[in-house]
Order: sequence, then C-alpha cells, then structure tokens
Amino acid sequence: MSPATRQLHPLFVAEIDGVDLSQPLGPSLAAELEQIIDQHGVAVFHNQVINDEQQKAFSEHFGALEETAGGHISKPGEKRLGAGMADVSNLDQNHQPYARDDRRRLFNLGNRLWHTDSSFRAIPAKYSILSARKIETTGGNTEFADMRAAYDALDDATKAQIEDLICEHSLINSRAKLGFFEFTEEERAIMRPVQQRLVRSHPVTSRKSLYLASHIGNIVGWLPAEALCFINDLMEHATQREFVYAHEWQENDLLVWDNRQMLHRVRAFDESHPRDMRRTTVAGTAPTV
Ligand code: OGA
Ligand code: MN
Repeated sequence: MSPATRQLHPLFVAEIDGVDLSQPLGPSLAAELEQIIDQHGVAVFHNQVINDEQQKAFSEHFGALEETAGGHISKPGEKRLGAGMADVSNLDQNHQPYARDDRRRLFNLGNRLWHTDSSFRAIPAKYSILSARKIETTGGNTEFADMRAAYDALDDATKAQIEDLICEHSLINSRAKLGFFEFTEEERAIMRPVQQRLVRSHPVTSRKSLYLASHIGNIVGWLPAEALCFINDLMEHATQREFVYAHEWQENDLLVWDNRQMLHRVRAFDESHPRDMRRTTVAGTAPTV
C-alpha cells in the first residue's frame, strides 16, 4: 500500500503518514519514498521513535552514508555520537547545553545561515535525514527554500548569465560571515574551497535549480566582492517567503531533504535547554563541475 501523502506548501514538502522508519522498508517502499523526496524536495514524518543504528539503516536505503569528517570542528574525545552521525544538537559530550563561548557552539551557529549540506565537499550530499530526539526549547524552526522555484522565477537574461558559472564553497566562508575565524592550520587545510556549478539539474527530474549556500566565497574568474554582491542578490531572491516552508518541530519528527534542490537554515532558539537533533547524510555520487 502506498503511504498517504499531503503537500504542506503550495510548491513543495510532502508529509507522509503510515510508515515506520525504524523498520526495514523493503525495496518498493524505499523506491516510492525516494520518488516522493525527489519530487517534493522535503519529506516530513511524525512520531518516528528511532535510534542511531535504525536511522543509519533507514538512510542507507537511499545510498551510502557520507563521512562526517571535515564537517565539524570537534576534537577527539569531544564527540557525543558515534560514527556516521552528524551531531547538530546544542549538546556537549556530557549531554549538557554548550557553554556560550564553546567553540563548537560558535561554529554550529553557521547553521543559522541559509545553506545546503556538504556543498563544501567535492562530491556534495544527496539527502539529509534529521531526527528530533528531544526538543525542550522554544524557537528553532528549520526553514527550507525551494531552489527550483527560485530558478524558474529568474528572468531569461539572468538565467543565461548564470548558466555556466562556477562557485567556490568552503565552511570557512560561512563562518567568516559570523566573525568566526579561529581555525587551526589543519582545519584550514581540510576546508579548502571546492567548486560547484551555480545552476544544477536534478539527476531524476531534470529540473534546474540554483545551487546556493552561505559557504560561497567567490565565483571563478570574478573578484570576491563582486561575486558576493551578486550571490547576496540571488540569495535574497531565492529565499523570498513564497519559496519558503518553515518546519515547527515536534519531538520524534524525522525530516528528509534533497540537498541538490533545497536550501535550509535553523532559526534562533533558547539554547539553555536541550535540542537533540541528529543527522545522517546520504552521499552524492558525482561532482557538479
Ligand atoms: C542540518 C541543519 C538545522 C537544524 O542538520 O544540516 O542545518 O534545525 N540543521 O538543526
Ligand atoms: Mn544543514
């Protein structure tokens, strides 16, 4: 039986009922979910009580898991979660909210800026799977913007201008926007910029979308200041309210989004209480350049 779906926004986002993601899906259900995610960009599931191993097994229905190395600045001994899990909570290894000046907290504040996961990797991510294990905070909506709709709404001259542009992405750029510069030499070496097309076509639906992120620091062949002005304008266009869905989390919600065609960011929340969010990431299979 097909899962029941309801679109939550006029353009995108499917809410899916009647599936238990903690259990193996079987190939036909997995294929059906993949099709829904590719079409709707974001899938919302409620009441999914799931542990880390089950979340990884669910994620692997859609491809290999991405390594988390290079996506965070936690030192050995500072990690709360095991291999394959990206910790996007506000908690330290003792499950306590980060101190205000904790370096990991300051780094994670980068998630408040519009981005797409792993555009700073040469082969960027396919899907992200985010599970809300504990929410004792107010605020903290996650917003998604539909980059297909944003692309479609551009005028023809802009579409022609951007068609073949290549951007440089690095975590160092998004953090610099928040005044965070304290990277070690080793981190800087890992976070060297990678190139991504500004316009990409979806491998399944063929729809074009803008591939934006706050990680962008330049466009190849441009001056950085010119590039950032141009990217800021595109970002403003692409995140107009008509293209945005805001997700208000309930505990045990699980969301899947397609990083190849969606932007996202988290809004401010009360960081003195736990917000235990755990992400798995399905690796992409090809570079965009
Ligand atoms: C992420 C992310 C936002 C949030 O998991 O990739 O950006 O709501 N998280 O915590
Ligand atoms: Mn993210």
